[in-house]
Amino acid sequence: MKNVKAIIFDAYGTLFDVNSAAEKCKDKIGDKWEPFANFWRTTQLEYTWLRSLMGRHKDFWQITEDSLDKSMKAFNIDSSMKNELLNLYKILSPYKEVSETLKALKEKKFKLAILSNGTPSLLNELVKSNNLNNLFDDIFSIEEVGIYKPDSKVYDMPVKKYKIKKDEIAFLSANTWDVSGGGNYGYQAIWVNRNNNIFDNLDYKPTNEIKSLNELTNLI
Ligand code: LAC
Repeated sequence: MKNVKAIIFDAYGTLFDVNSAAEKCKDKIGDKWEPFANFWRTTQLEYTWLRSLMGRHKDFWQITEDSLDKSMKAFNIDSSMKNELLNLYKILSPYKEVSETLKALKEKKFKLAILSNGTPSLLNELVKSNNLNNLFDDIFSIEEVGIYKPDSKVYDMPVKKYKIKKDEIAFLSANTWDVSGGGNYGYQAIWVNRNNNIFDNLDYKPTNEIKSLNELTNLI
């Protein structure tokens, strides 16, 4: 990849494992922990898109709780587990290669940032609880523009702040729709395809596809 000045990461699902909260409770939840975690994530994302379309914004933490309420009912999970799941969501685990990859990229003097639906306080806590706080130049939260991805106002934030061209940004996401969003906007978008999934048909094919973030150090 050429002319990359900043490397921007999606947070949930890309740097941090969104299923790790439910996984840490698998002894209590049982075998259904994974379909439950997937349902919670899908509902959470649907609520971000629906609220953006309806013009009825709520922040990502409120949406995470609202989607958890529905998911716990759908999977018959005792309501006494709600606070435990929410607290674990605040300290989601990063994927194992995240720290070493970020350190290697930082040594190469790239600007590194997060661009996420999360609130500033959620993102700061995630980064801090995982000892990643000194590695990012910026943490961009959609709360600054009040609408969720994939609205172009979101992808505009780093371009405006760094005064660089859209295609001087390498944008990484494991979420196919977010890769399509960033790519249609004008980023060089890279798909982190950890689970051998199928890409979307949304008028954009990723510049590159990698299985793990550590492949990035050879690419850029
Ligand atoms: C985020 C969601 C899309 O971090 O994963 O913005």
